Amino acid sequence: MSEQAIGVFDSGLGGLTAVKELIKVLPQENIVYFGDTARVPYGTRSDETIKRYARQDSDFLLSKGVKLIIAACGTVSSVATELYDTLPVPFTGVVYPTAAAAVKATRCGKIGIIGTSATVKSCSYKKEILRQDDRIKVFQQDCPLFVSLVENGFISADDDIVKLVVERYLKEMKNEGIDTLILGCTHFPIIAQAISDYLGGSVTLIDSGKETALYAANILGSKGLLNTSSTLGSCTYYVSDTVEGFRKTADLFLGRSVGQEAEHISLDVLRH
Ligand code: DGL
Repeated sequence: MSEQAIGVFDSGLGGLTAVKELIKVLPQENIVYFGDTARVPYGTRSDETIKRYARQDSDFLLSKGVKLIIAACGTVSSVATELYDTLPVPFTGVVYPTAAAAVKATRCGKIGIIGTSATVKSCSYKKEILRQDDRIKVFQQDCPLFVSLVENGFISADDDIVKLVVERYLKEMKNEGIDTLILGCTHFPIIAQAISDYLGGSVTLIDSGKETALYAANILGSKGLLNTSSTLGSCTYYVSDTVEGFRKTADLFLGRSVGQEAEHISLDVLRH
């Protein structure tokens, strides 16, 4: 069992920010990643559609014999909550571990949350934060354009367009005096520098991919599912749109050379 892979999925390649951390904390684990690049973004779709896609993505990973599934997508984690109870293997989304890290980090008790429209509408992070500590003040803002900026390579902290969009979305939160900001979408760490430059260094940014990778390591440890092999694990990548351009974007999200192509999976296979 322990040599079976960890399955990770996202609507696109944002979930690779979680894979980046998984490789750091669990280098011996095998990972199967699925990015639903033919249907990204999920964050502007209806709950019903997001739930259907999430189930198909999970079924695809199960067909690869994974031992744990991580929805490395704030949108899926917020909306397709039935996955927590209906999968035959352990499952985690990003909401719980990310909210816990933010509650731990805040000093003034004011936390900002940014995510896709579906994530913010669901109030998933907000509810989880208040469940953990109901004295905390929470400020939410959906930032759908951030996903488009990242998917289209507008990521530099010096880029005027990036700066403008960051200011437009975060102005109100900045005025509220938050000291902690949840990057509630796995695409957002890619523009963390621009966000931090605008909010100032005293605001702690919480990376949902990173926190979830650490949490997944705990789940595997507590269930005796860690791969104890002494050799480095492998990563296999699948995408539902063309594999062209995968390497370049994946290098960016992983912060290193991915060194291999992704395999294409047609939507017909997902819908089977
Ligand atoms: N990576 C997805 C998330 O964390 C955002 C992209 C999308 O809208 O599909 O919510």
